Amino acid sequence: MNILVLGSGGREHALAWKLRQSKLCSRLLVAPGNAGTSQYGENVSLSITDFEAIRSLCVTEFIEMVIVGPEEPLVKGIYDFFKNHDDLKLITVIGPSAGAAQLEGSKAFSKKFMQRHNIPTAAYAEFDETTYESGKKYISNHSLPVVLKADGLAAGKGVIICETHHEALDAFEQMIIKKQFGEASSKVVIEEFLQGIELSVFVLTDGQQYKVIGHAKDYKRIGEGDTGLNTGGMGCVSPVPFAHEAFMQKVEERIIKPTVQGLSDEKLEYHGFIFIGLMNKDGEPHVIEYNCRLGDPETEVIMPRLKNDLLELLVAVKINQLNNLEIEFDERSVATIVAVSGGYPGEYKKGIEMKGLPDMQPEDKDVLVFHAGTKNIDDLVVTNGGRVLAVTAFGHDIKSAVEKSRKALEDIDFEGIYYRKDIGFEF
Ligand code: AMP
Ligand code: GLY
Repeated sequence: MNILVLGSGGREHALAWKLRQSKLCSRLLVAPGNAGTSQYGENVSLSITDFEAIRSLCVTEFIEMVIVGPEEPLVKGIYDFFKNHDDLKLITVIGPSAGAAQLEGSKAFSKKFMQRHNIPTAAYAEFDETTYESGKKYISNHSLPVVLKADGLAAGKGVIICETHHEALDAFEQMIIKKQFGEASSKVVIEEFLQGIELSVFVLTDGQQYKVIGHAKDYKRIGEGDTGLNTGGMGCVSPVPFAHEAFMQKVEERIIKPTVQGLSDEKLEYHGFIFIGLMNKDGEPHVIEYNCRLGDPETEVIMPRLKNDLLELLVAVKINQLNNLEIEFDERSVATIVAVSGGYPGEYKKGIEMKGLPDMQPEDKDVLVFHAGTKNIDDLVVTNGGRVLAVTAFGHDIKSAVEKSRKALEDIDFEGIYYRKDIGFEF
């Protein structure tokens, strides 16, 4: 099969690494990709929301499947675009329709969906400009901390956890009146704070059948000990000790089954990955958010742990045969540590030369260096983003996996390099 992967992060490098191992994969294109993806496929420079450019690439290169990495093209309707054009409709798009992608694209939509299907989540209310005054009252009477969420996509910055009513009222005004996130904050969800430990669970579905393809714990804060500003993710571990069989059984019965059934009942087409961000609150799982894609850096631990041929799974999604496959996991623990540019998540420099990077990596290696924000300039690899690399390693337990990843990072250097040395600290 000829495959096109859309995106340019560590997630897409891990996908390219995994897809390249499939006997079903003939050609692999990654758009726009990074210096790492070019080791496994051909990078094509285009914008992932330029659907016409993607269309002509698919037609001229005889693409048979498009795997969409980030949420933006999905929320903007790439699935429907392919379905509605005669020259594209035989191409499989891995991702949800725009309707179903609202699970990520609109917090208000996803909260209502969970309510309709009795899926455990934090209590909430939604407000907009017309209900601003009652929103202020709702906040003033709310227990603390209180969580404010911009309804739409806000590049991971739309969630504010407020410790005081004053702070919450201020954030509410910024969002609704001052339009801090533009259209994305014209509606705001106000919800109860859930105390617990977070877990990311990944499901592959055709909208009827599903398989759990892995889970991971993500470390979002920039500083060690989970301190400082939020980032896209500074590291991940999998499997997570508290996600044992009994807990995952609850996740499946109370969350995954009603979610997939809900999609089916509401005729929301979905052929792709569901990323369920949940909170383990006293042993009970509650949904914090849905994402309509794989996570980054979660993919950099999920793909190495997954023993199945990924393309075989995706073909099973296309032909509604997921139930005929068994998911198999590597028994070892996997950790990834993300190396970022100095200054991230604030301002940082790009174009810095990188040293010590390994070449293309065989599938049986126990350390894998996935590129995120990198690009080739002539023979050099230079930094090209905040999150630069995700270094993944296997170990007999989480500690040894993290240790191996840290050791591998010692051989890599670029000016300003920073990474957390305490990923997996609580295990
Ligand atoms: P999101 O943008 O929805 O991923 O939210 C960002 C982060 O905010 C989550 O990963 C959680 O750490 C935190 N968060 C969101 N909602 C809640 C909640 N109701 N209770 C506690 N933490 C939350
Ligand atoms: N690591 C969190 C995300 O991909 O949204």
